[in-house]
Amino acid sequence: MDLRQQYYLQTIGIQRWVLRQQPESETEIESPLPVTTPVSSYASLDWDTLQQQVAGCTACALHASRKQTVFGAGNKTADWLIIGEAPGAEEDAQGEPFVGRAGKLLNNMLKAIGLEREQVYIANILKCRPPNNRDPQPEEARQCSAYLARQIELIAPKIILAIGRIAAQKLLDTDQAIGRLRGVVHQLPEYNIPVVVTYHPAYLLRKPSEKRKAWQDLLLAYHTRNMQN
Ligand code: URA
Repeated sequence: MDLRQQYYLQTIGIQRWVLRQQPESETEIESPLPVTTPVSSYASLDWDTLQQQVAGCTACALHASRKQTVFGAGNKTADWLIIGEAPGAEEDAQGEPFVGRAGKLLNNMLKAIGLEREQVYIANILKCRPPNNRDPQPEEARQCSAYLARQIELIAPKIILAIGRIAAQKLLDTDQAIGRLRGVVHQLPEYNIPVVVTYHPAYLLRKPSEKRKAWQDLLLAYHTRNMQN
């Protein structure tokens, strides 16, 4: 680990000694969980057409209150796909995911494992901002799921990092608590892609004492990625 990475670790509140932990010892491989079935009408869309479909989407009521859709951003051939919950006010204004305070912490979390934001792809469960940042409603997530499924197919990442409870539960189609979902390597069965769950950076900003666990999650994801070809 170089000095820059040590610096980024410091900024996310991680003591250097934590690096000596071996995540494998805490890792168990869970049996596959179901994932939302992609809607076939999107199954052959290329990036541009998919992005146009999202930009014009009126499938749920969120289209009425959004400033713009937030499709996703980053490297479309990335090994790493980061999936959050939904755009907030700043993302709605700028049209890009994770650009607010939580996004800055996410950038530093990625840097701590040697990744620049531009190297990964970042997307959300929802492409539109829920008013007052409320949780996504089941129907909104259902309507949006085919867009994310197609993004996953197009990127074909080596690993997915699910950021926060909502992203983890929607992606893995479970209502298990995030405390039970993290620390385990899940699989998206249809895609055979490993999924690691960690806390949302907005939660970590409110509760910095949980950053140590998030660091363990990042290490788990890092090692899981490195075990792929
Ligand atoms: N929180 C998320 O989950 N996604 C964003 O894009 C921004 C904040």
